[in-house]
Amino acid sequence: MSSTVTDFPKAISSTNKISAATKVHSWAMSDIAYDQIELEKVKSDEVLFFVLASASLIESGSDMYTSVLVDYFGDSDVANWLTGQWEHEELQHGESLRKYVESVWPEFDWAATYQSFFDEYSGYCTVNQFEPTPTLELVARCVVETGTAALYRALEDYTDEPILKLLAGNIRRDEVRHYKNFNRFFNQYNREAGHGRWPIFKALARRLAELRNEDSDCALRHIFEHRYPGVGTDTDQFKRISRAARSLVLKNITPDMMVKMFLQPLQLPGYVRNTVEKPCSQMMRFFMAS
Ligand SMILES: [Fe+2]
Ligand SMILES: [Fe+2]
Repeated sequence: MSSTVTDFPKAISSTNKISAATKVHSWAMSDIAYDQIELEKVKSDEVLFFVLASASLIESGSDMYTSVLVDYFGDSDVANWLTGQWEHEELQHGESLRKYVESVWPEFDWAATYQSFFDEYSGYCTVNQFEPTPTLELVARCVVETGTAALYRALEDYTDEPILKLLAGNIRRDEVRHYKNFNRFFNQYNREAGHGRWPIFKALARRLAELRNEDSDCALRHIFEHRYPGVGTDTDQFKRISRAARSLVLKNITPDMMVKMFLQPLQLPGYVRNTVEKPCSQMMRFFMAS
C-alpha cells in the first residue's frame, strides 16, 4: 500500500513495452494491416483523432498502473494474471492505437505528447485512489473494464473504416475478457470477505463517477496542446473538441451492455435486476455526460 509514483519506471517512448509478455494472446499487432487503412474515411475526422489519440495515451500508461495494482494485490493469482497477461494486452491496446494514429495523422508528435501527458498522469495513479479492500477494488476494476469495453464497442459501431473496425473489435473483446476475469476474482475474494450488496454498490458507483475523470480530460488537454500549439485549453475551441470527443462515444454507446456488466457483481435476483436496469442506464449516461 505504500507505493508512490516515484517508484515507477519512467520509460515511455519505446515501441517495445509489450515484449515481456509470457502468454499466447488472442491477436497481435501483426494481424493489423495498417498499410491498408482507407485513409479517406478517417483522415479528416478530427474528433475521431482526439478519441483515438486519447485512448492510445491512457492505454500506454498501463505498465505504470500495473505496478500500482500488483503492489496492492501482493503475491496472489490476481497479481500473476495482471503481470502475465493483463499488462501485455493493455499495452498492446496502446501500441496498436498509437500505430493507427501515426499511420493516419503522421504529423502528430505522439511521443512528445505522451511524455507531457505522462508527467501529469503519473501523479493520479496512486494506491490512494483504490478501494479500501482488494475485494472492492476488484469490483471497481469491473467498472473500469466495462467503460473501456463500451468505448471500443462505440468506436466499432461508429467507424466504417475496416481496419479501425477490426482493431476496435479486437480490443473490445480483450476488455470484456478482462472484465470477466476481474469479476471471477471478485467472486472468489468475496466468498471470504462477504461484502454485502450495499458496499459493493457503493464501490461500483464511486468508480462509475470517476469514469469520465482526469484520465481522459488530461489526455485531451495534452493532445490539444500539441495539436494546436499556443491556442490554450481554456478556449472555446478546446471545449468544443473535448465535448465532441465525449459525444462521439456517448452517441454510439450501448447502455444495455454496460448496465448488464455493471450490475453483474451485485448478483441481484432476476426481478430486481429487471427493475433497476433502466434507471441504471440513465444514471450511467448522466455520469458520463456531466
Ligand atoms: Fe485496454
Ligand atoms: Fe482492459
